[in-house]
Amino acid sequence: MQIAGKKVVIVGGSSGIGLSTAELAKREGADVTIASRSAAKLDAVAARLNVAAIPTDVTDDSSVAALFKRTGPVDHVVVTAAQLRTGPFKTVAMEDVRSTFEGKFWGAWRVARAAEFRTGGSLTLVSGFLSIRPRPNSAVISAANAALEALARALALELAPLRVNCVSPGIIDTPIRAAMPEDARQEMLAKAAASLPVGRVGQGEDVARQIAACMTNGFMTGSTVYLDGGALVI
Ligand SMILES: NC(=O)c1ccc[n+]([C@@H]2O[C@H](COP(=O)([O-])OP(=O)(O)OC[C@H]3O[C@@H](n4cnc5c(N)ncnc54)[C@H](OP(=O)(O)O)[C@@H]3O)[C@@H](O)[C@H]2O)c1
Repeated sequence: MQIAGKKVVIVGGSSGIGLSTAELAKREGADVTIASRSAAKLDAVAARLNVAAIPTDVTDDSSVAALFKRTGPVDHVVVTAAQLRTGPFKTVAMEDVRSTFEGKFWGAWRVARAAEFRTGGSLTLVSGFLSIRPRPNSAVISAANAALEALARALALELAPLRVNCVSPGIIDTPIRAAMPEDARQEMLAKAAASLPVGRVGQGEDVARQIAACMTNGFMTGSTVYLDGGALVI
């Protein structure tokens, strides 16, 4: 199965893993639309890649409905949109943990409900390896990721023959940690790289290639692929 000529919508496509997926899909000849909140970020990517861009906030029902009204029926949808707020379990604000779920989990839920898929299409969600390899101060991220992986399995059944899968990345060097001081960010990435069997952290392109496999492998549905450079075996 090819993605050339297919209509591919990447919700979260203006940055990181979503951006790498948009670049790959465009290179392969797909008709690509990216969506995220910031019109400025979207416009810059749309101009560089020559793809369509539609400002969308996945926390807003009507915004997600408007996105898919504008795209019309689509072949493949990928959801990478997330803004994560976390902290120590006993003290993190409820507002923060609710907002993490609102974007990452309910955002994917809204997209899955609103998109109209053509025959042969697919939906790929992006979770994260904290679902099964938790660490302190990120319980809400572990829970949201695990919920997404369960959602992919449930939708693979309920929305069949639409294929629904989840990709669960490990540490990937993207702008998601842009708020960290640069020294601390580099130190964290270097430490993670040294601990992994592959000796490096991931790049957006590593995950994009797996997402493309989810789109194109017609036998793949209800699967979660952990793509983490070996983080689950250390
Ligand atoms: N990078 C990692 O190490 C890693 C590891 C495990 C899992 N993941 C997961 O992989 C996914 C992608 O992460 P990334 O590293 O690519 O992050 P990123 O570079 O920060 O990109 C996130 C994207 O989501 C969009 N977004 C955020 N909130 C949104 C909202 N409410 N509505 C619409 N779009 C929204 C952002 O654009 P706007 O700001 O314009 O909205 C941006 O395009 C996330 O679910 C993340 O949790 C990442």
